Amino acid sequence: MNPIQNENIEIQMLLEAIHQKYGYNFKDYANAHTKRRLRHRLNISNMNNYAAMMHRVLYDEDFFNLLLLDLSINVTEMFRNPLVYKKIRRELIPLLKTYAFIKIWHAGCSAGQEVYSMSILLEEEGMKHRSQIYATDFNELILDKAKKGIYPLDVMKSYTGNYQQSGGKKDFSDYYTADYNHVILRQSLKEKVLFSAHNLVTDGVFGEMNLILCRNVLIYFNRQLQNRVLNLFYDSLCPGGYLCLGSKESLKFTEVEDKFEPIAGRHRIYKKSRLP
Ligand SMILES: C[S@@+](CC[C@H](N)C(=O)[O-])C[C@H]1O[C@@H](n2cnc3c(N)ncnc32)[C@H](O)[C@@H]1O
Repeated sequence: MNPIQNENIEIQMLLEAIHQKYGYNFKDYANAHTKRRLRHRLNISNMNNYAAMMHRVLYDEDFFNLLLLDLSINVTEMFRNPLVYKKIRRELIPLLKTYAFIKIWHAGCSAGQEVYSMSILLEEEGMKHRSQIYATDFNELILDKAKKGIYPLDVMKSYTGNYQQSGGKKDFSDYYTADYNHVILRQSLKEKVLFSAHNLVTDGVFGEMNLILCRNVLIYFNRQLQNRVLNLFYDSLCPGGYLCLGSKESLKFTEVEDKFEPIAGRHRIYKKSRLP
């Protein structure tokens, strides 16, 4: 057996141990990504092999938490893919305005930038007072960051550009105060947001959502896991509810492909069919 095959077996055993001990299922995650991250942690932790890493994971929870951060990719930004927000603002919001109250779920919300972008959009469209945003991620450390809504000052220039391209109606700096190297988002943007830990792989449905955004998360799951999560979204959406995926994700060739209608294929926005 060649060394690569041996490494694959060791990694599978490590991931099985993580699953049994901590309940996080990385066994179906895209292989190359997992391997790259684990190799990196092995190199910087002075361990000789994955057997040593498995022992450490089982007996040192702090080390496991580090690994959890390694395995989840948290890259995000405000108004990421601004044309998607423009589409939501121009085409989805007028439809959602016909409801007395709407519920939005950001699944895999990372450090919250996507959530606060939605909060700004809802505020500008006069919808915030009749909305509830649920923002979830399985990484509790990143959720703590999300709840704070404090971001480095140096990314504000690109966030401002995104905001403007997305059809933002104000001066973006109205939404934060600068404090040395950081900005603190306005408290009012947090009013309608509930952050909570939720693992898409192991946890259940969030009921009767009008819009679910799960962007740049499924890309790290294999097809089986994607199907599980997409069925979870189908069950969590009300009839006629909308699902928005990341720019490299799609419903094509998935189990739910026929249960949704693409309403803005280029922007990965889909509508749940009214009939099952
Ligand atoms: C690349 S970020 C995307 C953030 C944001 N949605 C965006 O598009 O900018 C992926 C996020 O998904 C989260 N994630 C990965 N696997 C998850 C799971 N099984 N359950 C919940 N969140 C998960 C990660 O912790 C990370 O914060």
